[in-house]
Amino acid sequence: MCGIVGYIGKNQAAPFLLHGLEKLEYRGYDSSGIAICSDNKIKLEKKKGRLQILCDKIKDINVSGTIGIGHTRWATHGKPSDVNAHPHLSQSGKIAIVHNGIIENYITLKNFLIDKGYNFLSDTDTEVVAQLIDYLYNGNIFDAVNEAIKKLEGSYALAVLCGDEPDKLIAVKKDNPLIIGLGDNENYIASDVPAILSRTRNIFRLNDNEVALITVNDVKIYNNNGEEQNRNVTHVDWDVDSAEKGGYEHFMLKEIMEQPKAIKATIASRIAEDKIRLDDIEFSKEYLQNLNKICIVACGSAYHVGCVAKYVIEKLTRKPVEVDIASEFRYRNPIIDKNTLVIVVSQSGETADTFAALKEAKKMGAKVLSIVNVVGSSIANESDYVLYTWAGPEVAVATTKAYSTQLSLMYILGIYMGEKLGTISQEDVKNYIDSLSQIPQQVEEILKSKDDIYEIAKKYYNSQNVFFIGRNVDYAVCMEGSLKLKEISYIHSEAYAAGELKHGTISLIEDGTLVVSIATQDNLFDKTVSNIREVKSRGASIISITADNKKDKISQISDLPIYLPKTCDIMTPSLSVIPLQLLSYYIALLRECDIDKPRNLAKSVTVE
Ligand code: F6R
Repeated sequence: MCGIVGYIGKNQAAPFLLHGLEKLEYRGYDSSGIAICSDNKIKLEKKKGRLQILCDKIKDINVSGTIGIGHTRWATHGKPSDVNAHPHLSQSGKIAIVHNGIIENYITLKNFLIDKGYNFLSDTDTEVVAQLIDYLYNGNIFDAVNEAIKKLEGSYALAVLCGDEPDKLIAVKKDNPLIIGLGDNENYIASDVPAILSRTRNIFRLNDNEVALITVNDVKIYNNNGEEQNRNVTHVDWDVDSAEKGGYEHFMLKEIMEQPKAIKATIASRIAEDKIRLDDIEFSKEYLQNLNKICIVACGSAYHVGCVAKYVIEKLTRKPVEVDIASEFRYRNPIIDKNTLVIVVSQSGETADTFAALKEAKKMGAKVLSIVNVVGSSIANESDYVLYTWAGPEVAVATTKAYSTQLSLMYILGIYMGEKLGTISQEDVKNYIDSLSQIPQQVEEILKSKDDIYEIAKKYYNSQNVFFIGRNVDYAVCMEGSLKLKEISYIHSEAYAAGELKHGTISLIEDGTLVVSIATQDNLFDKTVSNIREVKSRGASIISITADNKKDKISQISDLPIYLPKTCDIMTPSLSVIPLQLLSYYIALLRECDIDKPRNLAKSVTVE
């Protein structure tokens, strides 16, 4: 992961670099640094820990200069430390670089460079690239970078600064995101849009294996054959506010509260009267009929969306659906062919394992449809078909609105395919569309009771173990609820299919153990209630989430019931996940955790 920024222009570089890094801290935050060039000399400042530590240091020293690069790190090679922080400077002091990715052949290159007399200060793979460019430098930094990348294996987004040529910055992209922001007599490099939004909305997106030569008033992009590429300017219309906290204490709460809007934006353009449209994607009935199965591949919460979608799509289409964790899929030699539709799900569109799984699926002849939030991301670019979630930028490491919008698109897809295949009637289509259209309003209703959830959190925030139980789609939502809780509050939790608990795990239930149960499915309600009784009689405290019309039955066995508005069975996950997100948020708040940036995590996982 890691975040990269760069600036070249007439103004001081440091203010932009620090501001940009702040917006990119979600990509990694174990150390940060900047390199600024003035009078042909590169000055480096870098510190272990949060960006604020670097900012505090820089306050007291002079780092003037109108060209520079910066980095916020999520460690891969070498522990977080001042010396391992980026930028890395070459031995001659002439070349500084920042890097996002992994150089797989760095040991070979390092040994080669040591033989040539280079000394290394850090444990990183990145320092090798700085020294390699230095070794190849012959008065032209653009040529040296191009030569160097021919020798690199792995993934890299790079920004390169050369003390002898302080009128240019070089940016390189391979398998990691990088954009160029276009200003007026100034230009920017960034890993992601929020970093540059306060300065410009006009950007160039670099494609893989492209190198950009950036000066104060020009940007030229070249492919790996050295041919200049034409690139259209992309205008970003995100409002700055949607990339900022907008008055909330944390991005996570802001993003939870944005869900009605995000879901509405995601579904609205895909529903036209009583029909579903998949943007410009058209699957023929014949293609769908010939599908032997559908594979959904993703990581983390996006995988949990797939777990819900399995129940939904199988019900609506009667096609078998497999759900895979991307890091498993890519190495298990999956049985797929041209009659398999692979759906990859990713908020960032940059998750390394999901991207690799996508490539694997294409290699095996399958068509790939991606559900992605970041427009123009690597996964979107490589897919045969893309459905974008219109969630806007998601900054909190723990996903909320991306999960909800991904789920909405799964309903859209399921209804579309079911209708085409004739496995659901026109009346079903109409009813499902009605239910889906009501979800934003129903989510809004649930969010109004956030203070009640806060009160519940106050009772349980000291729990040491929490179990989430449910059946069918409720079980799939339990997985997401459990992940949400553990990743931001650091409480151990597990999700179990309610009927499975008694096959071992129930031995962990003792007096006061918190069990969160979800029971939204009419046909399974009594079964889940029996499972709740089983844990209750062993001392568990019960929070139950169910539909409003189940009040009578659930209130007798629940310490704290939470009621949801009524929707159709397959769409209850869109509602039941909301109290779980809020519960995790408030528990983490009461435990004084770093909610938007939980320990050991980063927003965009661009390493395997
Ligand atoms: C958890 C979370 C992660 C991501 C996962 C995939 O709250 O956000 O589990 O869902 O890292 O990321 P994307 O969706 O960017 O591929």
